Amino acid sequence: MALYSEKVMDHFSNPRNVGVIENADGVGEVGNAKCGDIMKIYLKIENGIIADVKFKTFGCGSAIASSSMATELIKGKPLSQALELTNKAVAEALDGLPAHKLHCSVLAEEAIRSAIKDYYDKNGIAYDKAQFPDPADEDEHHFEED
Ligand code: FES
Repeated sequence: MALYSEKVMDHFSNPRNVGVIENADGVGEVGNAKCGDIMKIYLKIENGIIADVKFKTFGCGSAIASSSMATELIKGKPLSQALELTNKAVAEALDGLPAHKLHCSVLAEEAIRSAIKDYYDKNGIAYDKAQFPDPADEDEHHFEED
């Protein structure tokens, strides 16, 4: 079996929603200290809906494919739904990632959360802090889950 699914190869070769949104309503940037990869997500939010989303990922192919798929999954969706997006859902939508690449999909989940938190912070919107755990604390946990 090939190491990467056709979907991973497709989203890596033709990533959707690459770029930057000028004057984005929320921006999230996260990195993985172990591999050094960085992912940045930009959100345009209208009436609680993700009207547009773009990403810039300086990282491996799986991170690029995960960003692309994650942005497709949240585009046009309410923020509440985007907050529920898990790295597992991203990996499943890609028809799986190799175990040692699952952390790449974690970056996508974290970057989206971070961008939504940024939007809440900028607009003085109250939120439950428990919904936004510090990614640094979660790192080891996610690695063990692999
Ligand atoms: Fe670290 Fe892919 S190897 S994000």
